[in-house]
Amino acid sequence: MATPEPFDAVDVIRTKRDRGELSDGQIDWVVDAYTRGVVADEQMSALAMAILLNGMSRREIARWTDAMIRTGRRMDWSAVDRPTTDKHSTGGVGDKITLPLAPTVAACGAAVPQLSGRGLGHTGGTLDKLESIPGWRASLSADEMLGVLRDTGAVVCAAGDDLAPADKKLYALRDVTGTVEAIPLIASSIMSKKIAEGTGALVLDVKVGSGAFMKDAASARELAETMVALGTDAGVRTVALLTNMETPLGLTAGNALEVRESVEVLGGGGPDDVVELTVTLAREMLAAAGLDGGKDPADALKDGSAMDVWRRMIAAQGGDPSAALPRARETHTVLAPADGVLARLDAYQVGVAAWRLGAGRARKDEDVQAAAGVELHAKPGAVVRAGEPLLTLHTDEPARFDRALEALDGGYVIAPAGGRPDLPPLVIDRVG
Ligand code: URA
Repeated sequence: MATPEPFDAVDVIRTKRDRGELSDGQIDWVVDAYTRGVVADEQMSALAMAILLNGMSRREIARWTDAMIRTGRRMDWSAVDRPTTDKHSTGGVGDKITLPLAPTVAACGAAVPQLSGRGLGHTGGTLDKLESIPGWRASLSADEMLGVLRDTGAVVCAAGDDLAPADKKLYALRDVTGTVEAIPLIASSIMSKKIAEGTGALVLDVKVGSGAFMKDAASARELAETMVALGTDAGVRTVALLTNMETPLGLTAGNALEVRESVEVLGGGGPDDVVELTVTLAREMLAAAGLDGGKDPADALKDGSAMDVWRRMIAAQGGDPSAALPRARETHTVLAPADGVLARLDAYQVGVAAWRLGAGRARKDEDVQAAAGVELHAKPGAVVRAGEPLLTLHTDEPARFDRALEALDGGYVIAPAGGRPDLPPLVIDRVG
């Protein structure tokens, strides 16, 4: 006879529905039982909605995170002879920072074990971007991961199915039940994966603005503080930066387009905001790993050492770093409608346009187009002239242009020349 379950899902749901606190035993059980398929999707959906509406205490969030970690295995990098440090972004538009960042930090002496995900909705995913490089392989065995990390100093690859499997199942459920935007669930989702990943230090890039999950600085700060506390309590040296996501990062949103821009940054060029965020996050990662005072990340971008690591890292995963990147079969250029200063270019709307052009997926099992996306010709604050290119849309399927253009409707504002728009700083705050 099967062992009886110690709790009842409906009681757990009722407790949270009625604004009660879940006990450690209830949390351990419900997370494990959901992963085993004993708690049904509809029950977990109701519980996730109750958590979204009524919140969780710090104790509940810490226990929930730990319960998710315990559904899988923890990685161990003790065989690597350098301190490990990683970065995680809460997700944005044009956020290709991992690509120049991981090799830069490795070139400065740390090891970066980065287990990444794919994009869903309007935000891009690091693995989708790297997969636009001919031959590059996201799935590695644990031994291969260790080998690439030891040989090159950085490995960016897919998290295996055994890393916090509860989160994989719960994240997919939240995505279709309107329960993604709950701070306790976002914090535990991200931190369960990062703690299980086994990094010694972690820098969180918490995005704020239209293109982010957190639309205002107060909720971003609450998310950042919650995650920093979870990491610190788990023995991971954790800090968070709150950074602007009102407008896309850099001049590209879309997989191969973002790889091309990242390679420019690794070559010592590239857009100012991508360089600034790469260098700022790299310094934080090195400081968290106890390696500040050594080589500066800005120098690693200038002297070719970051590029060197990039080329070795891509080649170690089967990619050809010299191969031409895919180009879209069709492009459509949007022209500036008036003379003036670009006062606003909305990150969310650009992200949705890139997604509709084929850069993202609406369902987990869909393929993405490597070459699809949006290229910006101006950033907020730039002077623009009527009739000059503002944006170029890229796709292999021209039927997608109309819906992408609809997504961009009202997404850019050109103000009369003369005044400068009030632009928020790229790095808004630091927590930790
Ligand atoms: N990224 C994650 O990994 N989980 C979330 O819940 C949100 C963003």
